[in-house]
Amino acid sequence: MDAQDLIDTAKMLVADYKGLLAMDESNPTCNKRFAKLGIPQTEEARRAYRELIITTPGLGEYISGAILYDETIRQQKKDGTPFVQAITDAAIIPGIKVDIGAKDMAGHPGEKITEGLDGLRDRLHAYAQMGARFAKWRGVLTIGAGIPSRGCIEANTQSLARYAALCQEAGLVPMVEPEVLMDGEHTLSRCSKVTEEVLQTVFNQLYTQRVTLEGMILKPNMVLPGLTCSQQQSVDEVADATVNCLLRSVPAAVPGIAFLSGGQSGELASARLNAMNVRFKSRSPWALTFSFARAIQQPALELWQGKEANLSAAQQALLHRAKCNWVARRGEYKPVMEGTRT
Ligand code: G3H
Repeated sequence: MDAQDLIDTAKMLVADYKGLLAMDESNPTCNKRFAKLGIPQTEEARRAYRELIITTPGLGEYISGAILYDETIRQQKKDGTPFVQAITDAAIIPGIKVDIGAKDMAGHPGEKITEGLDGLRDRLHAYAQMGARFAKWRGVLTIGAGIPSRGCIEANTQSLARYAALCQEAGLVPMVEPEVLMDGEHTLSRCSKVTEEVLQTVFNQLYTQRVTLEGMILKPNMVLPGLTCSQQQSVDEVADATVNCLLRSVPAAVPGIAFLSGGQSGELASARLNAMNVRFKSRSPWALTFSFARAIQQPALELWQGKEANLSAAQQALLHRAKCNWVARRGEYKPVMEGTRT
C-alpha cells in the first residue's frame, strides 16, 4: 500500500464540489425497484440502465466517483466498452461495494450484521485489478425499543474497521458507511444520540485496526427524525443536528464526509446538504458532500421505464440531481432550481 496514493484518491473524491453517485444496488434491490415501475428484471435491463447512467453527458462535471456492484463492474456498454473504461473516460473514479449484505444477527432480534469479510482480501485485489480505486461497506443500525444494542454496534463497527484496513492494504480507499436507518418514530434527538455513539465506536475501531484516517471517506446518515415521528424539524435544524453530531465524533484528519440519502427525497437531501454547507462553511474541518443513490437516481429511473425512447429525458433528470447536489456543496442551492432542468 502507498499511503500517499490513498490520500490523493480520497482527496480527489471530494474535490471541486463534486460528490459520489452510488449505483451499487444489489441485483435483488435493483430488481425490486424495476418491478415497482414495470421494468423487466433481467441482466440486460440492469445493464442498459447502468449504461444510461454512466453515459450521461457531462456527469463528470458534478460526480467524482461511482460506486458499482459486482455484476456492474464486469459489464460493458452495448458497443463492447467495459463500464470501468467508460467511467474513467468520463473523468469519474470507479469504486465497488464489497460487503455481501446485512443479515439477521444471532441473539439480537430486530438487528442486522453485515457479512463479507471471508475471502475479502482476495476479492479486493481482484477488484483493484479490474480498475476500482475505492470500495464501500455498509453496516446497518436500527433504532427501536432497546436497540441498537451495544453488541450490534460493536460487531458492525469492528467489521467496518477490518474491511477498511484490508482496503488500504490493497490500495483501495475505504468508504466507511455506518447507516442509522430513518425507519421508525424516534425523535431527531434520539437519532443524534445513536449516531454519535455509533460514530464514536467506528473511530475507536478504525484506530484499533490501524486505519489511516487521511485515506478514507466516511459515509454516514444525516441526523433525522424517524420517518413516522410526529415532529419533523426544519432543514436548518437537521443541518445543525447533523454537523454538530459529526463535530463531536469525527476526527479532522478525515478528508471528507459523503452522506447517504437513506430514502429522503432528492429535493430534501439537496436542501439539507446545502444548509450544512451554508451554516458550517468556515467551521467544518472536512468536505461535506454526497454519495446518494435514490436521491440522484430515482427521477431518472421513473422517467426511463425501461424504454430507449426515454433515455435522453432520464439522463437529463439524472444530471439535474447531480448538479443540484454540486450546487448544494457550494451552499448555493435554491428550491426554485427544481423547476429548471440543467
Ligand atoms: O448503501 C446505500 C447507498 O450507497 C446509498 O443509497 O442514497 O439511496 O441511501 P441511498
